Amino acid sequence: MAAGTWILDVIMMALCVVTGIHFSDALQRGSTDYEDMSFWMKSGQEHLQRVLSLRNNENQAKNVIIFVGDGMGLSTVTAGRIFKGQAKGTTGEEYKLAFEKFPSSGLSKTYNVDKQVPDSAGTATAMFSGVKCRYKVIGLDGHAVYNECDAKINEKSKLTTIVDWAQESEKDTGFVTTTRITHATPGALYAHTNNRDWECDTSIPEKYKNCAKDIARQLVEDAPGNNLKVIMGGGGQNMGLPIYQRNQSETCVRSDGVNLAEIWKNNNPDGKVVTNTRDLMTLDIANTSKIMGIFAPSHMPFHAVRDTSPEGTPTLANMTLQAIRLLRKNKNGFLLMVESGKIDIAHHYNYAKLALREVSELEEAVLVALQQVRLDETLIIVTADHSHSFTMNGYPARGNDILGYTTNLNEKNVPPYETLTYANGPGFFYHLNNDSSNVNDIWRPIEKIPNRDEDPYYRNFAGFYMKDETHGGEDVAVYAIGPYSHLFRGTFEQNYIAHVIAYAACLKNWPSHCDKAYHRYFYELSSPAAMTTPSCIIVLVFITLLGLTNR
Ligand SMILES: *[C@@H]1O[C@H](CO)[C@@H](O)[C@H](O)[C@H]1NC(C)=O
Ligand SMILES: *[C@@H]1O[C@H](CO)[C@@H](O)[C@H](O)[C@H]1NC(C)=O
Ligand SMILES: *[C@@H]1O[C@H](CO)[C@@H](O)[C@H](O)[C@H]1NC(C)=O
Ligand SMILES: *[C@@H]1O[C@H](CO)[C@@H](O)[C@H](O)[C@H]1NC(C)=O
Repeated sequence: MAAGTWILDVIMMALCVVTGIHFSDALQRGSTDYEDMSFWMKSGQEHLQRVLSLRNNENQAKNVIIFVGDGMGLSTVTAGRIFKGQAKGTTGEEYKLAFEKFPSSGLSKTYNVDKQVPDSAGTATAMFSGVKCRYKVIGLDGHAVYNECDAKINEKSKLTTIVDWAQESEKDTGFVTTTRITHATPGALYAHTNNRDWECDTSIPEKYKNCAKDIARQLVEDAPGNNLKVIMGGGGQNMGLPIYQRNQSETCVRSDGVNLAEIWKNNNPDGKVVTNTRDLMTLDIANTSKIMGIFAPSHMPFHAVRDTSPEGTPTLANMTLQAIRLLRKNKNGFLLMVESGKIDIAHHYNYAKLALREVSELEEAVLVALQQVRLDETLIIVTADHSHSFTMNGYPARGNDILGYTTNLNEKNVPPYETLTYANGPGFFYHLNNDSSNVNDIWRPIEKIPNRDEDPYYRNFAGFYMKDETHGGEDVAVYAIGPYSHLFRGTFEQNYIAHVIAYAACLKNWPSHCDKAYHRYFYELSSPAAMTTPSCIIVLVFITLLGLTNR
């Protein structure tokens, strides 16, 4: 055995000497012929060396950027990386998304206080306020009940967020999303409401008109929304912009006739309201103090089908670039939330291809951020709020089209099936064979579905019919780089993310590495030692007693 180890050592050392540590290019190639013993030995050693060389970054995080892939569960990340790798002409599995190269990662537990499988309002509140709350509630703790506005309870339950704390710390703040700017994820940065759907005045029930203020108005009228330097996304109809007053049934139409963008502009004479790619990208950033970009009546279009002309809608990367360029003008730093919100929406429709394209665009936005900031002073976090009922399954061959299908060679009678399928959703009827003359063929043969490749709105298979596919309840990943990114390790509750941000950036009145005297602000923290000592003593006494009895 000793000899075996010795020989292995020599082989490894020889490999390292011969090849150096520039294996990355080789790793991209992904050919099964090439991936022999020496390949995997090198691959393992390369990663080991990389991890051994990591040093904790204990600078203060002047800037924080948190990317949220809405609904980007682990199966979506895996499929998304293969999709991106295959788009680059490789087999795909070996590809690494930009954020998968980050040095730290951990797992975030996403349940809401009252739901095993969460929604985006509760999960975003956890990430941004540091407190978990109920399903579909925004910015109010677990005492506040969904869809019931009670002014007294709400007052007591009201939470503050990373945006409040960053503003108190004299940082500039902003967010970018591909959903409506009043949707659950961005809403959780600035709003407080018993129902995430109360986005405009007409969606609030008559009996709560005096209790609840719609999310769009909260954004423009109340702190911290009215102090945001960057607000970008869709939602023009909720905001009452005349150019977006097409009546889209998926979003509410204001009945108060208020144009909130105009009010915002009046409150911020140096601010710019932009509604298309050209106006956004040609902004004179040096001469702009605030940006409100509203690019669609409701959610922004999927990247795959957007209008790419200058009059069209910007990409997530375009918005992220302009947001960072504006925010980094503040010498005290900034906090930015970037949401790739349509991963989630594509999944709800079982549009797997569109969902993966949105993951790919999230990566582009992360790459832009990496170019625009310095990692010695910027904490970058990439995570998801929750997962989806989305699975990558079967035994497709290496390099098989991730959007394709495969046959199980061991079960000859089973027809080909898709690698990417959903446990539920509208894809059920899309795939159901309605041919009553042949009741044994339950499903349409996958190879015969027309336009499978061309149709962007092709729906993947779902096993149980639902108009709207559901979220998934398993943990999601958190990837981090920059100051104190090493605090993301292991498995933790989702609300922990806000606590790390405050600690890393030394946000005002928060426990942080800049301020050791934090006990004055918060609860008595129970140290692990204090908790284990009494139980250890009890166990010891018990064992001793047992010993005595046995004697
Ligand atoms: C929008 O459409 C809905 C349903 O078609 C209708 O009930 C509503 O009155 C319309 N609103 C406006 C402002 O046109
Ligand atoms: C800044 O923009 C305003 C109009 O928004 C313009 O009047 C002014 O000349 C600009 N200043 C500079 C330095 O470009
Ligand atoms: C917008 O971003 C895309 C990539 O997402 C890039 O190809 C394009 O050049 C950008 N447009 C502008 C005007 O910068
Ligand atoms: C089967 O019927 C459902 C419900 O009527 C429909 O939505 C679906 O498109 C049909 N499937 C096919 C293959 O025609």
